[in-house]
Amino acid sequence: MIKRVSVIGSGAMGSGIAQVAAQAGCEVTLYDNNPDALEIASSRLTKIFDRLVEKGRKTREEADVILSRIEMTHSLERIDDSEIVIEAIVENLDVKKQVFRKIENLVSPTCILATNTSSLSVTSIAAACQNPERVIGLHFFNPAPLMPLVEIVPAISTDVELGSKLKQLMLDWGKAPAIAKDTPGFIVNRVARPFYGEAIRIYEEGIADIPTIDWAMKTIGGFRMGPFELTDFIGHDVNYVVTETVFKEFYFDPRFKPSISQKRLVEAGFYGRKSGRGFYDYSENAIAPAANEDKVLGEKIVHRILAMLVNEAIDALYLNIASKEDLDTAMTKGVNYPKGLLAWADELGLLHILNILEDLYEEYGEDRYRPCVLLKRMVAKNERFYV
Ligand code: NAI
Repeated sequence: MIKRVSVIGSGAMGSGIAQVAAQAGCEVTLYDNNPDALEIASSRLTKIFDRLVEKGRKTREEADVILSRIEMTHSLERIDDSEIVIEAIVENLDVKKQVFRKIENLVSPTCILATNTSSLSVTSIAAACQNPERVIGLHFFNPAPLMPLVEIVPAISTDVELGSKLKQLMLDWGKAPAIAKDTPGFIVNRVARPFYGEAIRIYEEGIADIPTIDWAMKTIGGFRMGPFELTDFIGHDVNYVVTETVFKEFYFDPRFKPSISQKRLVEAGFYGRKSGRGFYDYSENAIAPAANEDKVLGEKIVHRILAMLVNEAIDALYLNIASKEDLDTAMTKGVNYPKGLLAWADELGLLHILNILEDLYEEYGEDRYRPCVLLKRMVAKNERFYV
């Protein structure tokens, strides 16, 4: 079992990952090149554990033991005895490559090098190293201590054994691992795109307004947040960039086409909650708009968005991005979907999903609605995902 872990970058993700590793009993070196960032991480972790003690989830002694396992440093040389290094610095390919080159020269030849990148190709980062076989993606979700999912992303150059080794490590750390192929958006950031995109499309077409779509997805769909509430929460600056990146990386496949309405929000600086306005107004005297709680309309909205989500999950399965179990784990453990999309598809009936997509495809004539060939084949053979 791995005992010595280093985390590079002590921001939101790095400090969370350090906490997860320390809670699992590892000795952690947390490095950042910005001393202020280390200060912030240190007080953030202290506060988190104070709260855990207050709530009775940890004793003061337990909290202190965990905190004492994390060494904060701005000296990169301190990582020299690590068994695994997890990089969580700025999302910039050139900077990541430089850092990987440096790390590689400091650690032992057997040390695993992992990146927490959410949008860059792991293969391109690995290619910066002399030993790309030991480089792998380890994509945590925010906040890392609370979200169980970790996507494990072997690059095409990664040692074939490393994926399962890290899967076991993540299980030891109490996480829910899912192995994903090194393709844009991995699992979650690819499969979840229609949750936002199709909701915005329905709004843009005037089929329903924003509160109605959110109401339908929560009350009928069972999602914790509606697509507009959620993108306001994530921040449109972040969510829009992910959509745009996935769209570009898939050579402009119309299925991932970003929305003008969201682009305008970004241009206006209406990022959502953090800026006081997004799809909704968060100012003090704002009146929350009412939903049209029409059940028939609500069901139509939910089934259209679900059919698009299921189609995306099936396409990911068809293209061997992940196993069906890992696809379902990813959506339930990384973004809190009430059910795995493939299990949900079984429940709704694959024929029902195919009918919705074919109707949309016929009506709009847009490639966006093309049903995945695997869905068609499974319907023809009357198959299900799970028995
Ligand atoms: P952040 O901005 O909160 O933290 C990044 C930290 O890296 C900063 O403290 C910065 O000082 C440090 N840093 C920058 N360049 C460095 C260098 N050359 N050497 C050492 N330290 C350096 O960013 P955040 O949100 O923690 O993201 C980090 C990584 O995790 C990115 O690759 C991001 O795409 C990925 N990620 C982010 C998620 C999120 O929701 N924020 C979710 C999953 C992955």
